[in-house]
Amino acid sequence: MKGIILAGGSGTRLYPITEGISKQLMPIYDKPMIFYPLATLMLAGIKDILVITTPEDQAQFKKLLKDGSEFGINLTYKEQPSPDGLAQAFIIGEEFIGDEACAMILGDNIFYGNGFNSVLENAKENAINGKATIFGNQVRDPERFGIMELDENNNVLSVEEKPENPKSNYAITGLYFYPKGVSEFAKTIKPSQRGELEITTLNDIYRMQGNLKAEILEEGFTWFDTGTFDSELDAANMIRTIENNKDKIICCPEQIAYYRGWIDKEKLQERATLLRKNNYGKYLQKLIDETK
Ligand code: TTP
Repeated sequence: MKGIILAGGSGTRLYPITEGISKQLMPIYDKPMIFYPLATLMLAGIKDILVITTPEDQAQFKKLLKDGSEFGINLTYKEQPSPDGLAQAFIIGEEFIGDEACAMILGDNIFYGNGFNSVLENAKENAINGKATIFGNQVRDPERFGIMELDENNNVLSVEEKPENPKSNYAITGLYFYPKGVSEFAKTIKPSQRGELEITTLNDIYRMQGNLKAEILEEGFTWFDTGTFDSELDAANMIRTIENNKDKIICCPEQIAYYRGWIDKEKLQERATLLRKNNYGKYLQKLIDETK
């Protein structure tokens, strides 16, 4: 299974900050924003990951993440010349995806909470069985989100973008799993009124075939879509609180890689030494010392 992190976009809601830097390179407390979606794909067991960026920002992403070997994964980079919509990821990524199933996550989405492993497992199994999966999280203000309507077996009955009269309060989060062949469907999509290849249109294709499933994130699950001043600060505060309470670093790519056996102790030690001046590095050192 392949994975894509879509980390382009224009970040206009964060101007003037994002006039000079990609939103996804900004910090969320103690790590760059893109570490969070990266950790999510790694948690799903995905090692071949395509990072899609704007042409201007790609060099900085490469400087940060390199070829992925520090995290025991294989990273590939591609450009999205202009933000023409989320579904374009599967056209840009067609060659990379090849004949495999593919997950896609937005570069500004943070997922953390109970039961995540099992929903990721379900989504992978759906993809093997020819079905796409979207992930729902209950929200207070459904008019602001893409919204899904479900039957009792979590089949998706409808998907609507920012509906005036929402049929549920389950927002569609920025994580999507598709079976093989997704690029073919993406190529049939026409730009919407706002000029984008909409992911909602892609999801609707699977829904009409009876091939769109939903996984619901548990109550108390933490999901952040961090595109505004306030949501960035809220997310950072939440990460800080969780990490201080638990005395750990969450959504930590090095830890996931180490626990899965994708990197060895020597490789982790390199990172722990590089990061030794802060709690992130000390946490990595603790992981090493605990397994001596
Ligand atoms: P958005 O929040 O829709 O857009 P944005 O990040 O450009 O921000 P703004 O609205 O402030 O201008 O994008 C959600 C995520 O998807 C974000 O991580 C950027 C990414 N994205 C792309 O990479 N390419 C695209 O074509 C679009 C629409 C979004």
